[in-house]
Amino acid sequence: MISKRVSEMLRLRVSYPLARKYDVRAAGTINLASNESPYGPSPRVLRALKREAARVGSYPDPRATELRRAIGSYIGVEIECVAIGNGSDELVDLACKAFLNPGERALIPLPTFAMYELACRVNGGVPKFFELSNLEWRVTELKRALEGTKLAFIGRPNNPTGNGMSLRDLRSLLASGRLIIVDEAYAEFADDSVAKLATKTGNLLVLRTFSKAFGLAGLRVGYAVGNPKLIEALEGIRAPFNVNRLAQAAAIAALRDKRYMRRVVGKVRRGRTYIRRELTKLDFRVLPSDANFLMVDVSPMGLDASEVFDFLAERKIFVRDLSNFRGAGSDYIRITVGTPRQNERLVKTIKQFKGGG
Ligand SMILES: Cc1ncc(COP(=O)(O)O)c(C=O)c1O
Repeated sequence: MISKRVSEMLRLRVSYPLARKYDVRAAGTINLASNESPYGPSPRVLRALKREAARVGSYPDPRATELRRAIGSYIGVEIECVAIGNGSDELVDLACKAFLNPGERALIPLPTFAMYELACRVNGGVPKFFELSNLEWRVTELKRALEGTKLAFIGRPNNPTGNGMSLRDLRSLLASGRLIIVDEAYAEFADDSVAKLATKTGNLLVLRTFSKAFGLAGLRVGYAVGNPKLIEALEGIRAPFNVNRLAQAAAIAALRDKRYMRRVVGKVRRGRTYIRRELTKLDFRVLPSDANFLMVDVSPMGLDASEVFDFLAERKIFVRDLSNFRGAGSDYIRITVGTPRQNERLVKTIKQFKGGG
C-alpha cells in the first residue's frame, strides 16, 4: 500500500524531529523550545480574527490577492513575485515539488531545519548533506558541494546555528546557476533580507513566515518571494485554499501594525544579548545569533545536552535538546529568547545547576 519512497523514509526514521514531549500549557511552564514569539500577535490581529470569525462559512480568497498585495508592499515587490503557503513549511514542500525531479539532489548544509530533508525525500529527491565545519559558512567548500545538485537550501539566519552567510558568499553560490532557496524565517530579527534581490535573480527563491516576528505560528502563514516565473510555478501547484480565511485576515492585520512587530523584535534582540552575556559568564559557549534563539554548547562544563535539558525541564523550563537534530551532536541545546522575566528565570535556574542544583 505505502509507496517505496515513504516506506524507505519510515525505515530510515526520517521525520520531523519533534521536541521531547511535555505539557507546555501547565501552570508556570516556560516554553523556550519552539522559536515562537513570547508576545503573540498584535492586538489588531486579535480584533481582525474576531471580525473574520463570522465569515468562516465561506471559502477564503483562493488567490489571496489582498494578502499577497500587502506582503508585496511590505517587502517592496510586485504581487506577481509573492506566493503564499500554509506556513513556510508548505513552501519548502512546494518548492521541492516544483523544482526537483525525482532522483535529483538537493544540497542541505548541516545542522539545519529538518523540513528541507523531509520535503526533499518525500518528493523523490535525494539529500546531499554537507556538514558546516565549525558551524560556520565556508563558501568555497559549499560551492564545491553544490556540484551535482539541482538546488540548495540555505537558512539565513540558519536554524539552529543562528548565523547567516554573508551576501557576498550568497552571490558566489548564485553564480553557480543552481537554484538557491534562502529560508528567511528569522529575517526580521536579523534585519537583513535578500527578498528584493530574489525578484531580479533567476535562481534565487526566498521563503518567509508570519510565525516568528509577527507571532502567528498557530495560524500557519508563510510566503515565497522570487521572480514571477518561479512564483508562478509555486502558485500554480498549491491547493487553492491552503491559507485559510482567518489566517489571511490575521496576516493582513499584522502587516498593518508593523510598529508592534518592530517593538517585539527590539525586545527579543535585547533578551538575546542578555542571555548570551549571562551564559557566556557561566562558561557556556554561546554562538552569536541573528535570530530569536541561541545555540549553546554545554560541553565546556563537562555536560551533555540531555543533562541540561532534564535539569531545566524538572523546573518547568523547556529548551531544545539538539541531540536529535541531524549533524548537531549531543553537546548543544537551543534556547528561544523569551520575555525578560522568562530569560531571567532561565539564567537563574542555570546558575543553580552550575552551583550543584
Ligand atoms: C528555518 C525555519 N524555516 C521555517 C520554519 C517554519 O515556519 P512556518 O511556521 O512558517 O512553517 C521554521 C520553524 O521553526 C524554521 O526554523
